[in-house]
Amino acid sequence: MNNIVIIGSTGAIGAAFTRYYAGLDTSPAVYALSRSGVPADDARVTALPMDITDESSVAQAAAALEATPLHAVILATGVLHDNASLQPEKSLRDIDADNLARVFSINTVGPALVMKHFLPLLDRNNRALFCALSARVGSISDNRLGGWYAYRASMAALNMLIRTAAVEMKRRNPQAIILGLHPGTVDSALSRPFQRQVPDGKLFTADTAVARMAAVLEAAGTDDSGKCLAWDGREITP
Ligand SMILES: NC(=O)c1ccc[n+]([C@@H]2O[C@H](COP(=O)([O-])OP(=O)(O)OC[C@H]3O[C@@H](n4cnc5c(N)ncnc54)[C@H](OP(=O)(O)O)[C@@H]3O)[C@@H](O)[C@H]2O)c1
Repeated sequence: MNNIVIIGSTGAIGAAFTRYYAGLDTSPAVYALSRSGVPADDARVTALPMDITDESSVAQAAAALEATPLHAVILATGVLHDNASLQPEKSLRDIDADNLARVFSINTVGPALVMKHFLPLLDRNNRALFCALSARVGSISDNRLGGWYAYRASMAALNMLIRTAAVEMKRRNPQAIILGLHPGTVDSALSRPFQRQVPDGKLFTADTAVARMAAVLEAAGTDDSGKCLAWDGREITP
């Protein structure tokens, strides 16, 4: 994989993916995209600004990479809560239209725009991957706990977008592999308020989760396209 794009490179998982690929002996070109466009403290990484909720920003970043055949695009953006009014709902009573729309805008609509503008940039002559960080809680069949309406629904919809794009890409670029990836529970700003519920040994550092997910990406084939895979390589049922 020569040309790798990480989107959401300021997040815990995005930063760990950036470190991981920039550190490989094969010296791939790594492009780190984030809202702020802050340069990574690594000369091997090229930083670019992109806000996934703004289509002109997504189109502009894609245009900057138009001449570069991409071998991996990893989308590591997402929201679960903020420091203000956005918190995962415990009950129907907590549903708020603005919060629901905001979570969908970042977790579902943004990734759809990224797929629209970046999937055509995947290399057609070599194996090329697109993966979006998703979440096990986006599985409809696995939902026994309830709650977290906006996040769960936005991730279930993201998984459907991935599956639908995989069907289209089979025709347009048969070597492309389009995946959702569940990282496990990872120590980050996103998971921090909920870490007390995590059993011992089940909270990964971002670097550990990324090493495991990179192995999953390495092993993935075109038959996997459209699936959501967990950090251990197992498929998450839709
Ligand atoms: N951590 C976990 O346990 C866990 C579990 C399952 C799934 N996931 C998924 O993994 C992904 C990454 O999570 P994380 O734990 O690394 O969270 P994080 O550290 O909070 O990172 C989230 C990233 O999303 C970016 N982002 C938010 N809105 C954006 C926008 N409009 N445009 C561009 N970037 C935007 C943030 O950018 P700024 O720095 O600019 O805010 C940040 O880089 C998410 O999709 C999450 O749902 C995480």
